[in-house]
Amino acid sequence: MKLRTIEGLDLRGKYVLLRDDFNVQILDGKITEAFRIERSQPTINFLRDAGARVAICSHLGRPKGERDMKYSLRPVAEYMNLPLIDDCLNKDFLANMHDGDVVILENVRFYSEEEDNNPDFARALANGFDLFVNDAFAVSHRAHASTVGVTEFLPSYAGLLLASEIENITRVMAGPKHPVLSIVAGSKVSTKIGVLRALIRLSDTVIVGGALGTTFNFAMGEPVGNSLYEPDQVENALEIMKYARENNCRFLVPLDKGVGPVFEADAPRTDKDMADILPDDVIIDGGPKTAARDADEIGRAATVIWNGTVGMAEWQPTWSYGSFAIARAIAEKTRAGKLHSIVGGGDTVACLDACGVMDDITYVSTGGGAFLEFIEGKDLPGISVLIEK
Ligand code: 3PG
Repeated sequence: MKLRTIEGLDLRGKYVLLRDDFNVQILDGKITEAFRIERSQPTINFLRDAGARVAICSHLGRPKGERDMKYSLRPVAEYMNLPLIDDCLNKDFLANMHDGDVVILENVRFYSEEEDNNPDFARALANGFDLFVNDAFAVSHRAHASTVGVTEFLPSYAGLLLASEIENITRVMAGPKHPVLSIVAGSKVSTKIGVLRALIRLSDTVIVGGALGTTFNFAMGEPVGNSLYEPDQVENALEIMKYARENNCRFLVPLDKGVGPVFEADAPRTDKDMADILPDDVIIDGGPKTAARDADEIGRAATVIWNGTVGMAEWQPTWSYGSFAIARAIAEKTRAGKLHSIVGGGDTVACLDACGVMDDITYVSTGGGAFLEFIEGKDLPGISVLIEK
């Protein structure tokens, strides 16, 4: 796949509409995790240094077409020390821009037409710009006006982050060093059937964890207490395990769990083997035997792909045990130069950050859903429109 990129373009004085994904965690008006913003910076600097006049467009959360200020990009603009234009369709500011200026447009999802990929809205958004640059890999699986629609009206290019995401993920998917271990967790089997199948084809071993893993435990007839899982996914879970056997892929489910009496951060923890889980127990994390098994598997792998925490990693320290064990084992082996590691997904990246091992991973993707869909081999609409014909 060859993308049209921004390198070599004459950008001086050009009005550039730049799509970034600033869908970051904000608590009480403060950004708690700025990974996506940091990763957007090289393209912003590139455009600024080349003398472009840049307006960054992004979404934040799901405001459902309402101007709900809870989803304002103001905290992002303040964090980046950039002016905020209070309406993404207001273009008056363009007349006052100089070469190298950068502004942020208010949340594009304040308009319902964005998610509908409405062509009139896309035209209005594109109006006044000379070209469009998409650097928002994390939202490139959405065919929205600001990812796909605007490309009908402007010459369109991939930003540096988007190009690097594709290059790094493609490299692993195309020819990974074996043994390949994939660790997939999260809440739902139903949303991960496609990606599990793709990873089974690619990997020597797949580990499932979290609530997704619990659904597999349930499908195997093990007690899962009063926990989060999908009882209606038994057939799919059994089908996926059969698919793994047919593809000579070892498929490993949780061996034990950290359980509490309620699903709460300060609930007291007890570790139990699956067979000992009682009807009132609530599973909140993987157990120590599972964590040791996972670390052992990581120790034997040459490539690890990880998406999804295996418990409530944000409820530290009680319920982060299983996820932190995985993060640390991957980081340690990668740091020693013995593992190629690739990690994606918002909660997973936050877990790496909380462990302080973000820089020890070979490649950390900014994508969550987009990361999974790309691995699955789906066409991502925001990327398809940037491929050189
Ligand atoms: C993400 O966080 O995965 C992206 O920003 C996409 O957000 P969405 O799922 O609300 O479209």
